[in-house]
Amino acid sequence: MNGKAKKWDFDTYDSIDRYDYIMRNVKRLRYDDTLAAVARKAMIKKTDVVLDIGTGNGNLAELLLQNGCKVIGLDPSTKMIELAAPKLAQFDGRFNIDVCENPFLAIPYPNNSFDTVVSTFSIHHLPGHDKQLAITEMKRVLKNPGGLIVIGDVIFKDNEDKARALAQYHDMEDEYQPTLDTFPFMFENAGFAVEIEQVADTVYIVSASLI
Ligand SMILES: C[S@@+](CC[C@H](N)C(=O)[O-])C[C@H]1O[C@@H](n2cnc3c(N)ncnc32)[C@H](O)[C@@H]1O
Repeated sequence: MNGKAKKWDFDTYDSIDRYDYIMRNVKRLRYDDTLAAVARKAMIKKTDVVLDIGTGNGNLAELLLQNGCKVIGLDPSTKMIELAAPKLAQFDGRFNIDVCENPFLAIPYPNNSFDTVVSTFSIHHLPGHDKQLAITEMKRVLKNPGGLIVIGDVIFKDNEDKARALAQYHDMEDEYQPTLDTFPFMFENAGFAVEIEQVADTVYIVSASLI
């Protein structure tokens, strides 16, 4: 890595127009099941205001909006957001999506703005310690008590499990995927009660509630 952070730039990704197709065809991700599990765990009510970080193509936001809530999406990639626009037009007035350089670490909203923060397949873009900072930042914008964070992503049991998966799945990138031996404890350190649900071999949902 030469001391340089790994960075996946979706704006220069050649196959971005095929993003949905690619995600759905990487069967080990169980992409639609993961999004559905995050939406279920988020227990959305019509009156809820939800923040979707790394909202990208808008597929999770679309599922949430079907429950009648309001969704704010943040993503650093203009091209990913362009994929979301046609899917979300039908929810005009209940959805807003902003390009934001650092949506986990500098959320451009005041304290106590959201009932729920959700994110799918995005937190693995953050290096280790940034994840703890992101949890502090997500907590800042959540209503307290009662606020909920639900994150679905590729998560490994530990670094050995990660090495095994990288050797087994040749299409898997070595990014900053969280591990179960540290990630849930970051939420507990920040005062959340945590639940874990496994969706696939290397895909988990972490739900963290402010009690
Ligand atoms: C694999 S896509 C997931 C998109 C969508 N949430 C889904 O489930 O299909 C990752 C998304 O994270 C965004 N992203 C990249 N770096 C990020 C960062 N540091 N913070 C938040 N989002 C980031 C990308 O632009 C992209 O839209």
